Amino acid sequence: MSHFTPRVFSGVQPTGNLHLGNYLGAITKFVALQDTHDCIYCIVDLHAITLWQDPRALTRNIREVTAAFLAAGVDPQKHIVFNQSQVSAHAELAWVFNCVARMGWLNRMTQFKEKAGKHRENASVGLFSYPNLMAADILTYRATHVPVGEDQKQHLELARDIAQKFNTDFAASIKEHGHENGFFPLPEPLITGPATRVMSLRDGSKKMSKSEPSDYSRINLTDSADMIAKKIRKARTDPEALPGEPAGLEGRPEAANLVGIFGALAGKPVEEVLRDFGGANFSSFKPALAELAVEKLGPLGERMNELMDDPGYIDAVLVDGAERARRIATPVYDDVKKIIGFIG
Ligand code: TYM
Repeated sequence: MSHFTPRVFSGVQPTGNLHLGNYLGAITKFVALQDTHDCIYCIVDLHAITLWQDPRALTRNIREVTAAFLAAGVDPQKHIVFNQSQVSAHAELAWVFNCVARMGWLNRMTQFKEKAGKHRENASVGLFSYPNLMAADILTYRATHVPVGEDQKQHLELARDIAQKFNTDFAASIKEHGHENGFFPLPEPLITGPATRVMSLRDGSKKMSKSEPSDYSRINLTDSADMIAKKIRKARTDPEALPGEPAGLEGRPEAANLVGIFGALAGKPVEEVLRDFGGANFSSFKPALAELAVEKLGPLGERMNELMDDPGYIDAVLVDGAERARRIATPVYDDVKKIIGFIG
């Protein structure tokens, strides 16, 4: 048992095209954890600029992610919702972690390799050191639990390595400053349920992503009901009927993806979805999925649009959240400075 008070932290990048993967892999989990934990949910604008962002679009996208959190049911009064750049401890602790993490560790990050692609020499330095900032996001609140999709697992492992190395490198000083069992917790990823890796609707071997050029590859949270139905109708499938059990989905990535999405939206395990739809063809499964998706996502998108019409309200939520976040983060970073040996 960890001696750290349980606390949840997670973040979403404001880079546009918020989609069903973000919703099922992360945001629905944020909502569920509110009953049992103190939660901090962050719109990670510092992360977004690791790739160039149009300033006006960035402002809009920060508000859009905030609107998605609120529309999905995150309570910004009971918990904390804010944008990262308002709390300077994230960037400050990230610098410290730049000096704790090793080049070799970051060189192993698959997401950097994917995002930098063949143009590695031309990638921003921020894109490379991004996982250190992510570790700082979590650890500046000494958060213990981090709900994320499967694609963030490697970054979470790195955050644990950084916390561990800091605890070891400064063990004596940490003790001298009154912390008996290490200063940082080793944060645990929470990656659960049938939709931890939602795949593209066009290609079952690629994950659904904000940056995929084809809009038909994803369902955006602000898509209209007609658009949602159309994208599901056009989703790639194979010619077989659905199997009666999960084992029958092996080697059928597109079918597995749609069944997983159905389960996550309905709040049912895959076994149960297949009990209901085993033997059905996609010509009957797709309309059922479209109906369910429209039922769940339609009101969400509408509420997001309403909230986006009142940017003053959204900005006030972020300012209030940032103030409360700062009250937790600043003392932690002050302790870090003392532990390292800085003055002041
Ligand atoms: P981001 O903005 O790419 O995605 C936000 C969340 O959505 C999840 N996700 C998915 N889940 C299932 N299927 C998909 N196709 C899919 N695509 C995205 C992501 O796993 C994530 O949980 N580095 C993070 C943001 C971040 C963060 C943090 C997260 C920065 N600091 C601290 C947790 C804690 C990212 O780029 O997420």
